[in-house]
Amino acid sequence: RAARYSSTGTSQLNSVTEQDIEYFSKILPKTSIISTLAPISSPSDELNSFNSDWMGRFHGRSTTVLKPKTTRQVSEILKWCNERRIGVVPQGGNTGLVGGSVPVHDEVIISLSNMNNVRNYDPVSGVLVADAGCILQSLTDYVAPHNHIMPIDLGAKGSCHIGGNVATNAGGLRLLRYGSLHGSVLGLEVVLPDGSILDQLTTLRKDNTGYDLKQLFIGAEGTLGVITGVSILTPPQPQASNNVILSLPSFDNVLPLYQTVKRQLSEILSAFEFIDRTAYNLAVKHGQGRALPESETVGAECFILVETSGGRREHDSEKLLDLLESLLGADKPLINSGVLSQSPAEFSSLWALREGVTEAVSKEGKAYKYDISVPLASFKQVVDDTREHLRSKGLLHDKAVKYVLGYGHVGDGNLHLNIVADAYLPEITDALEPYIYEVVASHRGSISAEHGIGAMKTHALHYSKSDVSIELMKKIKAVFDPKGIMNPGKVLE
Ligand code: FAD
Ligand code: MLT
Ligand code: ZN
Repeated sequence: RAARYSSTGTSQLNSVTEQDIEYFSKILPKTSIISTLAPISSPSDELNSFNSDWMGRFHGRSTTVLKPKTTRQVSEILKWCNERRIGVVPQGGNTGLVGGSVPVHDEVIISLSNMNNVRNYDPVSGVLVADAGCILQSLTDYVAPHNHIMPIDLGAKGSCHIGGNVATNAGGLRLLRYGSLHGSVLGLEVVLPDGSILDQLTTLRKDNTGYDLKQLFIGAEGTLGVITGVSILTPPQPQASNNVILSLPSFDNVLPLYQTVKRQLSEILSAFEFIDRTAYNLAVKHGQGRALPESETVGAECFILVETSGGRREHDSEKLLDLLESLLGADKPLINSGVLSQSPAEFSSLWALREGVTEAVSKEGKAYKYDISVPLASFKQVVDDTREHLRSKGLLHDKAVKYVLGYGHVGDGNLHLNIVADAYLPEITDALEPYIYEVVASHRGSISAEHGIGAMKTHALHYSKSDVSIELMKKIKAVFDPKGIMNPGKVLE
């Protein structure tokens, strides 16, 4: 892939030199610098994991990774890079799925992994202030003894950083209940490309004092600055959580089922997640959770995972059992069966069947991942049409595409359309793009519901954003980053 540096009209960025490494060595201890350049001279394979993304699809050629411990150090690094016109890629847990976290060329990587302290927690308000490099799971563990949870949860929780979550505006499995990070993030500390520190790390629920600047960094994917601190509202831990996987004879039942479940479970409904048959089979094949008893899956075209979170166990269980009874007792049942978790281990196992699809797909082969917003009623049609489209191109066979599958967040109108192939091949990409983006545009949908644009979809942004919007985005980029050093080649071409 060619490096693209044109989003602010900047044509040239400089490579890191030995002189730069000497400067970085004055700011950071040597143990916080990985570089193939003297005087550090690390073996080049130490850089591999930083230069390759989670899917093994995007690869950069950075010579240097810096691991600052403080906001001040980030500021000094950025000031220097800005003066020297060196491209910078902020990297969190490197779990992003659109190639945003690795360089397109040889930009310097700033890893936030050493900035991993909780700064403050108020168990009364539930407001948590943490360094951007804190791993999501560790924050969940931190607030648990205070009977709180994080408002966001996703399959990558063991590696992704809260800063990465904010930078991608990650959605995940709790959005239905707790809303997006645009609502739960109360404040941010961001280092701007010129080294200045934007301190908006407030803990206020209400603050209508002009433009809400922090919102611009939520979902900016590191193109406007480096997030160093996050203030976030953590909800109280539900007193009772239950889940059930429902087997559906037909996808057509998903919509009426969603309506029924919302009506009957009302305030205790906390997730309504979709897995098609292929996704389920792959999750089982690759050991993600325990397979459901075979009798419960016969004739199922797809599955829905329903989670409840509420205040009283007896009340919630009664509601859930009433729901199952009425679903199964109906004249024309919407479901074939339901498997209800009976213990914390079963609860986790049912979730693993849904959360583990990403991992299963990556074990099966190379994944082309399309994370789209389209009307719920068309989820299956989009998956089936894509499969037929690939078949018509002669690409649906063992040596090319093995599976086309769908799963995702029904409650958020977000379908994950995955195409699993033996390898990343240009003929598959050409068959999929712009085909899928045109389908999305025909529905006035989004080409990126929650994963972002990264390097993967810059050329396709216009399918979801008008020219006027893209021009404004470029102007905003130029205000914050006039030299175009921040994550070049990402989001904007
Ligand atoms: P990285 O991958 O390191 O970076 C992602 C982007 O953010 C890059 O553009 C990077 O430059 C930028 N960035 C990172 N840290 C900072 C920072 N401190 N300041 C500025 N910019 C920064 N996503 C969802 O939305 N929902 C899901 O349910 C979901 N599930 C996933 C499950 C699995 C198994 C995997 C592998 C990924 C999943 N993702 C999901 C995608 C990914 O985990 C999220 O996008 C996550 O929020 C990325 O966090 P990270 O720390 O790994 O960021
Ligand atoms: C999910 O919902 O599982 C995630 O967004 C990851 C993926 O799309 O595979
Ligand atoms: Zn998702």
